[in-house]
Amino acid sequence: MTVVVEGEFAVRIEDLTKRFGSFTAVDSMSFSVPHGSVFGFLGPNGAGKTTTIGMMLGLVPPDGGTVEIFGYDIRRALSQVLTRTGAIVEQPAFYPYLSGRKNLEIVAALRGIADRDAVDSLLDTVGLTERADANFGGYSMGMKQRLGLASVLVGDPRLLILDEPTSGLDPAGQREIQNLIQNLAKTGRTVLLSSHQLNEVQEICSHVAIIDRGKLAVTGPISDVIGEGRALEIGVDRPTEALELLRSRLDVEEARMDGASVVVVSDPEHAAAINRALVEAGFEVHLIRPRADMLEARFLELTSHAREEATDDAV
Ligand SMILES: Nc1ncnc2c1ncn2[C@@H]1O[C@H](COP(=O)(O)OP(=O)(O)O)[C@@H](O)[C@H]1O
Ligand SMILES: [Mg+2]
Repeated sequence: MTVVVEGEFAVRIEDLTKRFGSFTAVDSMSFSVPHGSVFGFLGPNGAGKTTTIGMMLGLVPPDGGTVEIFGYDIRRALSQVLTRTGAIVEQPAFYPYLSGRKNLEIVAALRGIADRDAVDSLLDTVGLTERADANFGGYSMGMKQRLGLASVLVGDPRLLILDEPTSGLDPAGQREIQNLIQNLAKTGRTVLLSSHQLNEVQEICSHVAIIDRGKLAVTGPISDVIGEGRALEIGVDRPTEALELLRSRLDVEEARMDGASVVVVSDPEHAAAINRALVEAGFEVHLIRPRADMLEARFLELTSHAREEATDDAV
């Protein structure tokens, strides 16, 4: 069997730049999205996520740099790109007085697909079969967003680009969309989603890029970016003294304070030895566990100057 891979990466962005007047919203941005990945595109509000996505889809003209999707340069082959890509950048617009099914049939017809089975199968994929004949206007936010996903799946695109797909949804709605995205990725599609919800990205993404003020801060497999499974949170009395002891140990690569706890980067199998050393040195250890929110910690570390400035401005 021959696997046809069009280009090494689903998306390759190089030196992408966008200025609005004298303000540089996206500054020499480069990153690549591997085939089959769920790629989290992260950054604080105003970091340049939507502008970058707009340039990927030919909606925003760049001032410099290149975007390649499936090996096609979007300046030369935008239509090749768009037939392989489904995107939600803003809330997709549907007719409120028509049913979900009818709305989807219209989208399909506009793309030259007159296949009722295809529409039924998409409604099933996004879990709307039961409510397919109810008016769109009566749908919950989560159902509206799921119909939006169904509409970008028309034509079976290999790449989905979703700008903040879970924003404005309640936790149950967010969970539904996250599950759906994970299922879509299992069928070999590549999904790029922007988000500022770090727990969501940590749960569903295989790769990330974190941007801040138009610049790339870090990108790679999520396990590399956060050092997955290698961060231990330690709750101890006299944490600043414990920090010194931990820093002197060879099995601890990095140790720092985080609130009242000490966080160390170390292989999890060293947890028992670290615990013993602390107890033997007279510390009381009440907690030692893997850190689950490391992406958030990394994000705040990488984007902290943005927050400081925002605070300065507010003063
Ligand atoms: N059309 C525009 N004209 C001027 N400034 C813009 C325009 N679009 C976005 N910006 C600015 O560019 C920056 C990045 O915006 P955006 O890409 O929407 O960020 P994000 O999606 O990460 O929140 C922001 O400071 C925003 O105000
Ligand atoms: Mg945005």
